[in-house]
Amino acid sequence: MTSTIDLNMVNAYIPGRADVGPEMAAQIARRDALLGPAYRLMYERPLQFVRGEGAWLIDPQGRRFLDIYNNVTSLGHCHPAVVEAIRRQAGTLQTNTRYIHDTILELAERLLASVPGTDLAHLMLTCTGSEANDLAYRMAKVRTGGTGIIVTETAYHGFTDAVSQFSPSLGAGVDLGAHVRTVPAPRLYHAEGADLAARFTRDVEVAIADLKRHGIKPAMLIVDTLFTSDGILPDPAGFLTGAADAIRAAGGLFVADEVQPGFGRTGGQMWGFQRHGLKPDVVTIGKPMGNGQPIAGLMATHDALERFGQDSRYFNTFAGNTVSCAAALAVMKTIEREDLIVRADTVGTKLNKGIAGLANRHEAIGDVRGVGLFVGVELVADRATRAPDRALTSRVVNAMRDRGVLLSACAIGHNVLKIRPPLILTEDQVDLVVTTLDDALIEAAGHALGAAA
Ligand SMILES: Cc1ncc(COP(=O)(O)O)c(C=O)c1O
Repeated sequence: MTSTIDLNMVNAYIPGRADVGPEMAAQIARRDALLGPAYRLMYERPLQFVRGEGAWLIDPQGRRFLDIYNNVTSLGHCHPAVVEAIRRQAGTLQTNTRYIHDTILELAERLLASVPGTDLAHLMLTCTGSEANDLAYRMAKVRTGGTGIIVTETAYHGFTDAVSQFSPSLGAGVDLGAHVRTVPAPRLYHAEGADLAARFTRDVEVAIADLKRHGIKPAMLIVDTLFTSDGILPDPAGFLTGAADAIRAAGGLFVADEVQPGFGRTGGQMWGFQRHGLKPDVVTIGKPMGNGQPIAGLMATHDALERFGQDSRYFNTFAGNTVSCAAALAVMKTIEREDLIVRADTVGTKLNKGIAGLANRHEAIGDVRGVGLFVGVELVADRATRAPDRALTSRVVNAMRDRGVLLSACAIGHNVLKIRPPLILTEDQVDLVVTTLDDALIEAAGHALGAAA
């Protein structure tokens, strides 16, 4: 059995494209045989790791790779505070949400305190972001009596049956639901001179009208508030207000998917929706929440949750277990103690500027954008037409990997480098990223234009 070629993943391992050596080939064959054809590996020459430490991943030969792609272990791999919290709780008590336990309540208090100025009043826990979005959708259906969903054109919200139907980035092989409408992602770089807020609001209004014309009542507009699969689209801050108002006027809920932008990544604030001045009905969270321990969930207004809570009980065997809650609490405390939200802003600004400086040397860099420690670098075949250069992007991703720096790519044209390092990234590591990217671009494009700015 061989791995399937995946045209929807720009950095997927494609059998036969690069020489991986006999040992790795045997490991891949064993993995394919055991795990079957649905899994994917990353990079032309896949990687195996045996240890993680801070921003580094270490392979069996002891080679260190700077991990600027993994936004799960966002405090750094094996952060001692989280490891110790897990160890202590696992050695004391592991139970579920059907018993009273203080850790989940302290976690809820901390999370709900992080969303001042909203009406978000309750925390519900899941194990994955997909489950959180699945639950949000169930809640939205009960609250609104509708089923219609609006998402952006290359969004990813998860893998369950319901959620994969509103995750268009999974590609043409996964059907969108008949109750789902996509709107163009708000791509500022491709919308010169346009009023992006007005355009996005209008697109959502058109989608609402189309749902209604097909007899489908809207249930929710769900957006990743940093549009991380659509190409990392942070600006201009505030442009989502009109769209959120439009879905509410149509009787639907506004759901902010914070699975990627949340927990301080955008710098300056804990959540991506706060940058946009929004008051969501539901906020879904996950990924970095346990620094690797599987914990996710949602925060909802009482109004959004009330009817759902009356009609159906909620139990999720592992979600909200005492060990995962202890890990999440340690994450919250560490973000505060190490001042990581401010750090994401300052170190992120340096990273953004450093990469933007490379645009003077590399014609292929069309746009560099980001906020906090999330940066997108759009690679184009031609700066005038802004045509995507997917092949170059793939070469750059693999050239970075070969030089020991791990990142990936996203967006509708598969041509935006996706950079999301841990929040503990140091300034020296920023320099390493910038110089390595410079080298990788020279190799991948075959040339550079001049001196770095
Ligand atoms: C924005 C967003 N929402 C939801 C999910 C699903 O989370 P999980 O993989 O934990 O199910 C992802 C995962 O990549 C995501 O990026």
